[in-house]
Amino acid sequence: MAKQKTIFSCQQCGFQSPKWLGRCPDCQQWNTLVEEQQLAETKHSRQLTAPGKPQKLTEIDSREEDRLSCGMSELDRTLGGGVVPGSLILVGGDPGIGKSTLLLQAVDRLASAGTALYVTAEESTRQVKLRGERLGVNAEQLFLLAETSLEQIKLRIKELKPDFLVIDSIQTIFTSNLESAPGSVSQVRECAGQLMIQAKGEGLPTFIVGHVTKDGSIAGPRVLEHMVDTVLYFEGDPGHPYRILRAVKNRFGSTNEIGVFEMQEQGLREVRNPSELFLAERPEQSAGSAVVSSLEGSRPILVELQALVSSSSFGTPQRTAIGLDHKRVGLLVAILEKKVELSLAGQDIFLNVAGGVRLDEPAVDLAAIAALASSHLNRVINAQTVIFGEVGLTGEVRAVSQPELRVKEAARLGFNRCVLPQGNLKNLDVPDAMQLIGVRHASEALEAIFT
Ligand code: TYD
Ligand code: MG
Repeated sequence: MAKQKTIFSCQQCGFQSPKWLGRCPDCQQWNTLVEEQQLAETKHSRQLTAPGKPQKLTEIDSREEDRLSCGMSELDRTLGGGVVPGSLILVGGDPGIGKSTLLLQAVDRLASAGTALYVTAEESTRQVKLRGERLGVNAEQLFLLAETSLEQIKLRIKELKPDFLVIDSIQTIFTSNLESAPGSVSQVRECAGQLMIQAKGEGLPTFIVGHVTKDGSIAGPRVLEHMVDTVLYFEGDPGHPYRILRAVKNRFGSTNEIGVFEMQEQGLREVRNPSELFLAERPEQSAGSAVVSSLEGSRPILVELQALVSSSSFGTPQRTAIGLDHKRVGLLVAILEKKVELSLAGQDIFLNVAGGVRLDEPAVDLAAIAALASSHLNRVINAQTVIFGEVGLTGEVRAVSQPELRVKEAARLGFNRCVLPQGNLKNLDVPDAMQLIGVRHASEALEAIFT
């Protein structure tokens, strides 16, 4: 009898080693290696499709694949325009953020175009049904299956031949090929691998739900993220009703696209006009608030930045940034000190993006600087002023991408003054009512803003 081989795999990142190690050399986490049985490689043939033949580039059909709409435009947008047949889509997020709700609503709409199977490996069918009633889910062709064994699930799929499949969640299903517990890296990887073979082989679009571990990564993240076609993260602050669906990987569309939802009593509602929503509760006439026109994927969104600068009662002042990269904020504070000559030493600094949004692009810099200066100087920024621009280390303001889109969105929402990089002014075609103020340096921007 062949000897059973075991291998140690890191439960954080999927790193594998033939011997046990106290610290994973890949992700540097301590005590994450667990002994698991290795699959005999020969057991599985990993042929996805019929053997390929070399084809002439000029003869390859380049038409867009037929995409299926999920009936939720925000979800379609994040997917790059709908579901591609045979694609494997991973939906990650913190527990309780609304992944099951989102997929149940999506699959309800998809079920009008074909048979859909929702495999619920965490909740009973009754629980899902009860939730479905609240959400108004009642598609005729929607099937529920409470099952955790991958072999059983595949058997049912053979019988039912669904057109769409949802697995909720990948961490609770297991294959009997492996002895390790459900949720372990090797189980997650093997199950996802088998689901991928099935998705590609049968052209079955498959959504997989994956929970995120404490530090923000999906269990067995790298292996999973590399396998699937699309990775969507569902994020949001549990204290806020807004949820943002972000594509972090997409083989069939652009990443950086976001979909905005609002969690209500009757489930998730799509937010078509995120700017209006994020600005709805903006305090006017108060210092420390600045509005930035930020680009998320192809869509400009106006968001309020709030800063609070107050003298610290401790030796080491606090620096807190919510929704922005705190290193970037530290850098902006240093620029304010050195290049704009605002004395912020000994001040506690808090910077927050209102509405629980996260902003990652450098175009936010200038607005962050304006909000900080506004709070520190206790001077109000005009409520009809919108600000964007990247700020370099010498305090220079650099041009950003797509200025026209940003300005037009601001104009649409009634803003009439825009402070932007001088380099962005060229050939800008914007409504006449919008006053454009091009600036070259952060101090020039602050002068323009506070006059
Ligand atoms: P759920 O979809 O179960 O989260 P996940 O699958 O990501 O773990 O969502 C659970 C949360 O959503 C729960 O805290 C209650 C809230 N919720 C609503 O506010 N309204 C609703 O209609 C539903 C179904 C859930
Ligand atoms: Mg769930």
